[in-house]
Amino acid sequence: MSIQAPTHIKTLLTRLHAASAAQESSLSQSLFYLKRNLLHFLFGTTWSAASDDHMRDKFVALEPEKCELVYLLARAAGATTIVEAGTSFGVSTVYLALAVGQNAKLRGEDGVKGKVIATEKEPSKAARAREHWKEAGREVEEVIELREGDLLETLAREDMPEVVDFLLLDIWTPMALPTLKLIQPRLRPGALVIADNTTMARGLYGEYLAYLRDPANGFKTTEAPYPGGLQVSVYLPEA
Ligand SMILES: C[S@@+](CC[C@H](N)C(=O)[O-])C[C@H]1O[C@@H](n2cnc3c(N)ncnc32)[C@H](O)[C@@H]1O
Repeated sequence: MSIQAPTHIKTLLTRLHAASAAQESSLSQSLFYLKRNLLHFLFGTTWSAASDDHMRDKFVALEPEKCELVYLLARAAGATTIVEAGTSFGVSTVYLALAVGQNAKLRGEDGVKGKVIATEKEPSKAARAREHWKEAGREVEEVIELREGDLLETLAREDMPEVVDFLLLDIWTPMALPTLKLIQPRLRPGALVIADNTTMARGLYGEYLAYLRDPANGFKTTEAPYPGGLQVSVYLPEA
């Protein structure tokens, strides 16, 4: 594993990734994704209450290689404030928490502890995420602030950090662009924005990708060729 972490955290992550992979490789999950793409192609349907019901007990965790890239980019960028849109059972959040904590320690400035603002609208998922972070220990638990409820409300609150270094969009596709627009005023120049499954759900990400590619919006963007795709963007507005 390409992360700096104690053995018990690596063991925990290995266990959680295996549970997520088992769910994702099931026939019912493949059929769910197929049906979702088909419904979008035929009727323009994006997400529904039935989709939420189906996903309520699913990890849908970011795969280990993508999590490692996210961790390494966050370390390289020295990110100490990260927003995670879509937390589920909190697997990717562990990587983000390790990164901000370690970056803050490296900076060694008084009062800079690092923070991950995690978001989850399903209470049962939020509870599971908290259990996993507790198991990971204080290094992880103490730097995460989990905001429960619809992120378009919880991330619009006044008590947001002024500056965000990194935004991970691992959320249902219709939420990607509204979330980016909500956080964009807080992004520092050079901030990273990463969105998952942009190849697999290319049609559903149409407006998001068009926004990133429009030079007027200040992003430089490229797709990392992981299975399903991972869109890596950097906020570089003209001075
Ligand atoms: C793909 S999963 C996140 C997986 C997680 N990042 C990981 O790697 O472990 C997306 C999550 O976003 C949550 N979600 C969807 N819409 C939301 C909203 N409007 N506000 C907050 N959470 C939302 C879903 O309940 C789901 O658990």
